[in-house]
Amino acid sequence: IQALHIVACGTSYHAGLVAKYWIESLAQIPVSVEVASEYRYREPAIGPNTALVCISQSGETADTLAALRYAKERAPGYVTTIAICNMPGATLVREADLRLLTNAGVEVGVASTKAFTTQLAVLYWLAVVLAKNHGRLSQEDEQAAVDRMHRLPQVVEQATSQAEGIEKLSFDLVDKAHCLFLGRGVHFPVALEGALKLKEISYIHAEAYPAGELKHGPLALVDEDMPVITVAPDDHLLEKLKSNLQEVAARGGELINVVADHVHLDETDVKHSVKVAGLEGALSPIVASIPLQLLAYYVALHKGTDVDRPRNLAKSVTVE
Ligand code: G6P
Repeated sequence: IQALHIVACGTSYHAGLVAKYWIESLAQIPVSVEVASEYRYREPAIGPNTALVCISQSGETADTLAALRYAKERAPGYVTTIAICNMPGATLVREADLRLLTNAGVEVGVASTKAFTTQLAVLYWLAVVLAKNHGRLSQEDEQAAVDRMHRLPQVVEQATSQAEGIEKLSFDLVDKAHCLFLGRGVHFPVALEGALKLKEISYIHAEAYPAGELKHGPLALVDEDMPVITVAPDDHLLEKLKSNLQEVAARGGELINVVADHVHLDETDVKHSVKVAGLEGALSPIVASIPLQLLAYYVALHKGTDVDRPRNLAKSVTVE
């Protein structure tokens, strides 16, 4: 495989965006990620040895299924099609050439949570396997990836144990009409997913931006009524992110941060933060998603909106 096209909707699309960072950096294979409702109505250029990956919790989403069928009709076509799905008997699973099941169990809430984190886990493995098959992964690096994955449940457990602190942060958002999520690098799609979770279940208007884009528009919105939520992992972009936080603080924006446990942020900038372990290394996006899911959950809970069945939304969108 020389290239991957990833197609999905909603939260599954965000999982695909995270995968692009992983696959391109580990395997050096170009990856494009697109929402299925766009892909199915355009004429994508398919290069040689390109695989299509469709990600869907339900495997019944109309646009994702239509994208798979459309892709299969195209010539010259894909070398293979892969479904990443949580439902073993789903149409998408039956119609794709290959399948990777996330085995998250039945997801009750309309807003996807454990389906998302398991999609990420599967996509990380896909990145590792592709890197290995392309001769880009030493045996030590492969072992490190396996060890990292084995430790993941424990790290996620630690993140969920911060629920009390996250609930406290949630009170800052309950009465707000809007908020902004910022992230950098692989944590930008995590910010997109955090914003989606909040808008889905609490009906607060939430937008996510790559923090480096702040000056190109969203900074104009920042004032004391605009909470800005960021994830500050311990990565090579931390210093860049810190200066973005200062830009927000200087405009009176209320910063709410999910911070790697050993990272120090200037307290004059950041009013509210919760420290979380495991926000470093390749799997940080999986861990970082948990506090943002919890934040949306507590905001919805305290606003009194229906966490499991948000208005106007369906778990599986089987019509266009
Ligand atoms: C709906 C759900 C979302 C989900 C999206 C894609 O909008 O409410 O939670 O992410 O569909 O669903 P899929 O089953 O294809 O992942």
